[in-house]
Amino acid sequence: MAGKIITIAQQKGGSGKTTLAANLALALASTGKKVAILDTDPQGSLGRWFMTRAENFGERDPGLGFRTASAWGARYEARELLKSHDIVVIDTPPKMGVDGRPAIEVCDLVMIPVTPSPVDLWATEPTLELAVNEKRPALMVINRATRRARLTGEMREAIAGLGGDVSQNMIGSRIVFAECMGSGAGVIERQPSGPAAAEIRAVAGEVTKRLG
Ligand SMILES: Nc1ncnc2c1ncn2[C@@H]1O[C@H](COP(=O)(O)OP(=O)(O)OP(=O)(O)O)[C@@H](O)[C@H]1O
Ligand SMILES: [Mg+2]
Repeated sequence: MAGKIITIAQQKGGSGKTTLAANLALALASTGKKVAILDTDPQGSLGRWFMTRAENFGERDPGLGFRTASAWGARYEARELLKSHDIVVIDTPPKMGVDGRPAIEVCDLVMIPVTPSPVDLWATEPTLELAVNEKRPALMVINRATRRARLTGEMREAIAGLGGDVSQNMIGSRIVFAECMGSGAGVIERQPSGPAAAEIRAVAGEVTKRLG
């Protein structure tokens, strides 16, 4: 797999876009790929995570690049980053609406984190629509899954009902995700053999396979 752009989008705030962007980037980088992250959210959470990481870990990230861009600059910056990286992961703001088009347009896969709640499900429709309009494949990922959501699969059915692909692997609601962000780390570093790391690796594997 070379030269691929993954855009993480979801109109609903707090669904886990930034958490997924950081952890997915690290999981992909751990397989030897050169990964860059592009923060297009003016909130700059991913940038703060990356800067904290740089302070805490120094030169630990030989392959992990980072840049910011405005919504309209996303396409240009992502392509620039692809010149020196294998994969670019783009984080986007909530409620991006049509402003988010460049980030969707440029990508090879739109990943949409969805937490198991009806409100998140409703919010997913416009994000999916954006992907469909730009003819981009979309993959919904259930994030913050509870034990019940895992057992019943009800959520998966409800999400599949929206008419997009749902990832085989869910990401559980785990405190380690929140803990990691503040220290600029990822779950695969904090708890390499823990369940959160296994979930992120599984999602990363699925994404790699899809991107060919
Ligand atoms: N799988 C998870 N388990 C537990 N907590 C999580 C998980 N995913 C995200 N969180 C927490 O949920 C909150 C929102 O996550 P995050 O910032 O990644 O969402 P977001 O979609 O990027 O939000 P925004 O729309 O504001 O950019 C954070 O406090 C984060 O630590
Ligand atoms: Mg965010």
